[in-house]
Amino acid sequence: MRYILPFLLIALCWGCQPHKASVIPYPQEITLQKGSFRLTESTPLYTNLQGQEKQDLAEYLQTLPAPFNGSLQEGTPTGEGIFFHKLPEAASPTDESYVLNVGDKQITIEAGTTAGLFYGLQTLLQWISPEGKTTGAGTVPATVIRDTPRFAYRGFMMDVSRHFRSKEFVLKQIDALARYKINRLHLHLTDAAGWRIEIKQYPRLTELGAWRPVEKWKDWWFGEGGKTYCEAGTPGAYGGYYTQDDIREIVRYAALRHITVIPEIEMPGHSEEVLAAYPELACSGKPYTSGEFCIGNEETFTFLENVLTEVMALFPSEYIHIGGDEANRKVWESCPKCRARMQAEGMKETSELQSYLIHRIEVFLNNHGRQLLGWDEIIEGGLAPNATVMSWRGEEGGVKAVRAGQKTIMTPGAYCYLDTYQDAPPTQPEAMGGYLPLEKVYLYDPVPDTLTEAESRLVYGVQGNLWAEYIPGDEQYEYMMYPRILAIAETGWCQPENKDYPNFHSRALQAVKWLQQQGYHPFDLAHEAGRRPEALTPVSHLAIGKKVTYNAPYNNTYAAQGDKTLTDGQRGDWTYSDGAWQGFISSRRMDVVIDMEAVTDIHSIEADFIQVTGPEVFLPCEVVISISEDGENYTELARYNQEVNRDQAVCFKKYGWQGETRARYIRYEARSGKQYGGWVFTDEIIVR
Ligand code: ACM
Ligand code: ZN
Repeated sequence: MRYILPFLLIALCWGCQPHKASVIPYPQEITLQKGSFRLTESTPLYTNLQGQEKQDLAEYLQTLPAPFNGSLQEGTPTGEGIFFHKLPEAASPTDESYVLNVGDKQITIEAGTTAGLFYGLQTLLQWISPEGKTTGAGTVPATVIRDTPRFAYRGFMMDVSRHFRSKEFVLKQIDALARYKINRLHLHLTDAAGWRIEIKQYPRLTELGAWRPVEKWKDWWFGEGGKTYCEAGTPGAYGGYYTQDDIREIVRYAALRHITVIPEIEMPGHSEEVLAAYPELACSGKPYTSGEFCIGNEETFTFLENVLTEVMALFPSEYIHIGGDEANRKVWESCPKCRARMQAEGMKETSELQSYLIHRIEVFLNNHGRQLLGWDEIIEGGLAPNATVMSWRGEEGGVKAVRAGQKTIMTPGAYCYLDTYQDAPPTQPEAMGGYLPLEKVYLYDPVPDTLTEAESRLVYGVQGNLWAEYIPGDEQYEYMMYPRILAIAETGWCQPENKDYPNFHSRALQAVKWLQQQGYHPFDLAHEAGRRPEALTPVSHLAIGKKVTYNAPYNNTYAAQGDKTLTDGQRGDWTYSDGAWQGFISSRRMDVVIDMEAVTDIHSIEADFIQVTGPEVFLPCEVVISISEDGENYTELARYNQEVNRDQAVCFKKYGWQGETRARYIRYEARSGKQYGGWVFTDEIIVR
């Protein structure tokens, strides 16, 4: 109840005076007072910061509108003014808390660290009711805001490999991330689609590995003659990379905004581009034969350590992300060098080869004062002793890590993957699949209920990931990023009892307007279409609760509600993984019989299917509907045949029969095509 009060007070305040300001992430404690402060374009700025700290704040302030870009004076204000007051002591060097005190004469931001001062300023900037669009002048309601984050790590991952983004684009996003108190930018710098960082010792990485002949990732990956690279400067070459000077500029720009940039260098998988440039590091010694480094080859370690040495010189971040995800271990099985390594080290499984590499790289990083961060596959074959696990395949990896006493960062696909659809897929540009609206991102809690108090403390934070396979353009990238990253920002900052979706939604609407005014391209939240209408209410029909016999089994991962699913009245939403859609893959068919318990008059039988081409969920190529009175002899009522149309990234289609008949048993069969195989998913067989 304690936390309801501030929301109410603000609502009242909005009612009695035209204060439109709203803050994301929502501060821990807001105490409104009588009166307000009039901020003009010439309100003076003061600080007790000295030296480099003062210079850094002054440099950042220069980028803001008046009065914030005025000169930063040393000392305390005697008359009107804004005072950045660093306290003599901080709770810890990484303390980010602050107190923002707005009186009618002065605004004071107090914090033990410059990060705290910076976050107090971000809150103030959002707390002003602006008078115009071009200055920072306006009215600030008198308040005391005491604020501190829930998690130390609040991240965003930007994939710059699948489609390269300019340095300017990265800097622009850093501005917005800092506003919402995100404090880590994880750059996915290397992947099959392109190597994006200059490494002086290995120039072929960017002469060849950063360029491809086909612009759109989807065409390059699936198209004819795809997945190849070309020399820089080839007419039509698409790609790019950051020079080491670019990286230094990004890192410094982010640091001024209290964001640490974490580089990710993928290993041992996702490295096709490296092995095209340096094929001697592949098991076969030839380019275009695999995406995995040869772990039996010492040269692999020489290469990785040399690359990481240059990377560490550019990024002061404590963490270096080494990927570790989705390595295909098949190539290692038949490689003499890899087999020799396994024998020498007494390994039985190829997963131990992967962990051998991760452990060795961890020792290397630790010896250089850095910590290893990797995707949750780094647990397999034995977790490296000091590593932090980024849990993406659900939360299990993170739970294992904290139970082993190690830190985790939660970024499960179902809540934190922003490459999914954020609204009804038929209204959206093609995305990776899934359905992750703002509300679902917002409702995520990074601390699983099953953890003890001590384990919970090892959940270091939360991160939103925006992969870019299906995002060629910059505007589309921003569209996928905002406002969903704001929900991650609030989850990372606010205590769970302080979160409230309707309240957040109204603040997010304002944030979307602000982002648009600043030249960003967020999703238009005000016109969100919302959930699939069918999914909103249970459907009633004759087969509800009737027994379903499966002649072909459903897949256990996509069992939905098990044997009840197809006759429970619950329809599926915009994605197949929502617990209402049931998936079939073995023998590429669904084949079920509903027992109506007695011979029944039937006028229609129908079922919907979903197609999401990315994960190979297709509409069926053949549907057969038949009936029987005795369960032995069936009469066919309807049959449909069609080819899979892969152009429709996400679609829904109903296959049914209408007429007059009587039957006790209804058999519904649906097969996926021979050409592509893949999944068949349906949610309900509706009988009327
Ligand atoms: C991942 O999505 N492969 C980490
Ligand atoms: Zn090998």
